[in-house]
Amino acid sequence: MLNRYKKTYEKIAMGLLSFMPDEKDLKVLQQTIQKYDTEQDWELYLYKLDADYIGLIGVERFDTELIVRHISVDPSHRGEGIGTTMVQELAEQNPTCRVSACQLTKPFIEKCLHTKEEADIHV
Ligand SMILES: CC(C)(COP(=O)(O)OP(=O)(O)OC[C@H]1O[C@@H](n2cnc3c(N)ncnc32)[C@H](O)[C@@H]1OP(=O)(O)O)[C@@H](O)C(=O)NCCC(=O)NCCS
Repeated sequence: MLNRYKKTYEKIAMGLLSFMPDEKDLKVLQQTIQKYDTEQDWELYLYKLDADYIGLIGVERFDTELIVRHISVDPSHRGEGIGTTMVQELAEQNPTCRVSACQLTKPFIEKCLHTKEEADIHV
């Protein structure tokens, strides 16, 4: 289940974000989390399984589009469908928005939504 990020979960969120290839540097990581903290149209969600937060998805919101900027799953839970579930839940919770990808998230989002046409990829 997706939960909206709160500052209380900053360390967990930073840990999950750090699995993104472009978030290895601590300063970059801090800037990214700050962006989700302060910019209204940047939204971060954590995926909770039982008692643990094991996934993260971050989007930039437009009127009719959600661009997935970040997506990551704890390595010990990869290949269990969590990434796909997060994208599907996001789409279900936002029926009036297209879910699309940025350059960084495109390979997985494209795979998730099956075809490039369906994904309506934003690059
Ligand atoms: C990408 C990621 C979120 C997928 O999460 P997940 O929960 O393992 O995904 P799912 O179990 O729903 O789907 C697994 C499928 O996605 C594929 N996949 C994994 N990473 C992928 C990637 N970067 N690009 C395209 N496909 C990918 C797997 O090969 C698997 O394919 P299969 O079903 O044909 O075997 C996870 O691998 C991750 O956190 N990676 C590090 C962060 C990252 O690189 N994010 C950007 C991805 S573009």
